[in-house]
Amino acid sequence: MCGIVGYIGQKKAHPILINGLSNLEYRGYDSAGISILENNDIKLIKTKGRVKTLFEKTENENLNGTIGIAHTRWATHGKPSDENSHPHLDNSKTFAVVHNGIIENYSELRNMLIEKGYKFLSQTDTEVIPNLIHFYYSKGNDFIHSVSLAIKDLKGSFALSILCKDEANKIIVTRKDSPLVIGKGKDEFFISSDTPAYLDKTKEFYFLDDLDMAVIQQDDIKFYNSNLKNIKKDIKLIDWSADSAQKNGYEDFMLKEIYEQPNSIKATISSTLSKDKVQIEGLELSKEYLKNINKIFIVACGTAMHAGLATKKIFESICKIQTEVDLASEFRYRDPLIDEKTLCLYISQSGETADTIAALKLAKEKNCKTIAISNVIGSSITREADFSIYTHAGPEIAVASTKAYTAQVTLLSILAIYFAETLEINNPDIKILKKDILDLPNKVDEVLQVNDDIKELSKKIYKEKDVFFIGRGIDYPASLEGSLKLKEISYIHSDAYASGELKHGPIALIEDGISVVSIITDEKLIEKSISNIQEVITRGAKTIIVTNQNLPANNFYKIVNIPSTNPYISPILSVIPLQLLAYYISKEKGLDVDKPRNLAKSVTVE
Ligand code: G6P
Repeated sequence: MCGIVGYIGQKKAHPILINGLSNLEYRGYDSAGISILENNDIKLIKTKGRVKTLFEKTENENLNGTIGIAHTRWATHGKPSDENSHPHLDNSKTFAVVHNGIIENYSELRNMLIEKGYKFLSQTDTEVIPNLIHFYYSKGNDFIHSVSLAIKDLKGSFALSILCKDEANKIIVTRKDSPLVIGKGKDEFFISSDTPAYLDKTKEFYFLDDLDMAVIQQDDIKFYNSNLKNIKKDIKLIDWSADSAQKNGYEDFMLKEIYEQPNSIKATISSTLSKDKVQIEGLELSKEYLKNINKIFIVACGTAMHAGLATKKIFESICKIQTEVDLASEFRYRDPLIDEKTLCLYISQSGETADTIAALKLAKEKNCKTIAISNVIGSSITREADFSIYTHAGPEIAVASTKAYTAQVTLLSILAIYFAETLEINNPDIKILKKDILDLPNKVDEVLQVNDDIKELSKKIYKEKDVFFIGRGIDYPASLEGSLKLKEISYIHSDAYASGELKHGPIALIEDGISVVSIITDEKLIEKSISNIQEVITRGAKTIIVTNQNLPANNFYKIVNIPSTNPYISPILSVIPLQLLAYYISKEKGLDVDKPRNLAKSVTVE
């Protein structure tokens, strides 16, 4: 949430910062702002609204400086407004700060600063930071010491990029529990919350650990730990192409990412699975260890949690290990029963979700092994976990996750096979599952052919007020994901239920004309599922069936046929028509598909 960027080099900073912000808009888009250092003065322009509005406000402002910082906001403290937008300055206008995160003790700090005579112009938590830096600066400390002292007073999370008009040849950055990367160019550096902002400029990035600081000059970068001791950092190479973070002819990132799924799944498979034994780079667990595991916890938020639900069955049926799936925000507060024999898997596309990271830290305190499953190399979660394994989905920009979900389900299925092979489990299903996973990219290509059909369907149902999704067994988690996609980007109320639960409450909501989407991919559950569908048809529902089975003729409103596959991995295929349905309904309603209201892609606050 919130995107921050910075530039220092020989070129004009303004266009580079605006470009970086536009690439980061998926992190927040209710206001934006920029500060440029020019002639030992900080120029500040900020506005409510999107980066486009900021660009229009700044394009004729003659911003020629080559050092600057900028911000795109997702409001936490203080509603979206010009005053609450970042950057924030201290009272003397010596420091400019952009911030991603939340300062939990801001009101205490604010009161302390007010007592010392500081005035506040916004309702944000961030504004205490430049003033606190100034407070230490006014006592005779230099820029870096003032920043270092100020961050010691902060409780909460922060990624900060800071300018000082008196030391106008540098930017200081630091972070704690919020992401920040530094791209290295030739005599220039690019600061950003996430690598996609500047993939068109560099592939070489530095990653900071909690409370590290970097002092960045045009041709030099120095790193310090929290005690201001010089430390060394290695450059990491990010092999995503710049194109992969562009729309490349598609109207929206979401549609592009839906269509990228054959390739993202293929890349995830080819990094791990062949006809021989599964090998996952960065993961080494012994038979002895796996034999003694008492339980697996899969912990995540949002779509990533749905990927966990979709694969729980494989771990239990094939590996014979009890597996529980938990929401990170609940897991961390419910005192889960974990010990050194529990294995905790954390799934996070971004690797920056605050609740998931906190849930991981909790498991580490209890000495159990942790595996992070992420799409972003170097992300916070991968630096915390004992082992990190990667989906190879490429940058996902649309707020609603699509290709990351299918890559996560693919990788988790492969991980279950890895466990089973390491445990030397002799089960013919494993060989069949491997073959079926290898066939997935072709099957996904095939499912995508439902595109035009779904587009037509969306024209008929886009005015709905409520849509229900139902499924049994493996189709239930896929229903949850379909329902989440629809509500996220179309703002239609939707809920998902296990089909068998309908008569325990939700059926009371079914009336004439309500749409019910039902997924049926498990042959063994056809009869029961059809009975549930009949129950809603009888009460007037329009039923849309996504299936790979030959269903008995019936009075369904619409059948969407998908190719058959191994039941364990069917959510990878059944979710795709639902992604498309959400997409086209949102388009019919004229909404901004990639940037749905109130949401952000990377939820770095708890
Ligand atoms: C946000 C995003 C979702 C995502 C969830 C978890 O809510 O909008 O698309 O599933 O966060 O994100 P993560 O990066 O941890 O997978």
